[in-house]
Amino acid sequence: MKDFLSITDLSRDEIYEIWDMTDRLRKNPFNDLLRNKNILLLFEKPSTRTRVSFEVGINQMGGRAIYMDASTSQLSRGESIEDTGHTLERYVDMIIARVYRHEDLVKLAMNFNKPVINALSDLEHPAQILSDYYTIKEKFGRVEGVKLAFVGDGSNNVATSLILGAAILWAKITVASPSRYQPKKAIVELAEEIKKGTVRVVEDPVEAVSDADVIYTDVFTSMGQEKEKEERLRMFLPKYQVNDELLAKSPAHSVFMHCLPAHYGEETTREVIYGPKSIVFDQAENRLHVQKALILKLFNIQLP
Ligand code: CP
Ligand code: NVA
Repeated sequence: MKDFLSITDLSRDEIYEIWDMTDRLRKNPFNDLLRNKNILLLFEKPSTRTRVSFEVGINQMGGRAIYMDASTSQLSRGESIEDTGHTLERYVDMIIARVYRHEDLVKLAMNFNKPVINALSDLEHPAQILSDYYTIKEKFGRVEGVKLAFVGDGSNNVATSLILGAAILWAKITVASPSRYQPKKAIVELAEEIKKGTVRVVEDPVEAVSDADVIYTDVFTSMGQEKEKEERLRMFLPKYQVNDELLAKSPAHSVFMHCLPAHYGEETTREVIYGPKSIVFDQAENRLHVQKALILKLFNIQLP
């Protein structure tokens, strides 16, 4: 494996290997394993967690992180992705890229003969989900058979990676979305091909959360969809907001996850984010630990 563009780029065994490395890295966070490695973060969109967790992780392992906002690069003046990739491969050892169009990421990976990590595209957010299932394993002691309910925009990047991740890791997921925002058929089919019985798609959020171990939501309007915001709010509110009332319909042991940033009053509320079921800040922290192991795995660097 050269790149990590989709959660499906990893097998179940590889994911568990990365999580084992993660556990070991948490015990000894600082090392020199990335000495002399220069890693470029090339971002077309804003970021708090992804940028800082990757940069800190690289620093903790003795590497160098270089941040380039794509709007200040020559890409913004029309230089091709092809020329950009071939140039950057002469300078840096890895690119971690956040892009609008997933196809641009694929093109970058094709023209950069070293590892590329997807730090979010319109199609997937696999680094998030690799870490989120680690958090689920940390909380429940297992991932197999854990029941997730994703409430909200079932067609977005986070939902897509979560669905495919459930199939790879033998979890079960029910997605509750208005019909227009349900997961794409091809994604459901792919998940079912990986593991039969993984996904259920419904319209009723109560049906989704009633037997869920994990209730997960994400923004109704993803980056790049800002023009659709009013219409989306009309479609999603009030039914698809994960608030205390909806959580009260889930089992007593359930936990709440959100990749963040959260939009209070839209997909969730401040009470939920800071409420007793919320594990969102542990979830955010784990990005740092898991992504360190992911980088080592892509470089084929073993822990001593
Ligand atoms: N969850 C996540 O990717 O957050 P950022 O947009 O802040 O990186
Ligand atoms: N679905 C959101 C995730 C942000 C981390 C977006 O793409 O904006």
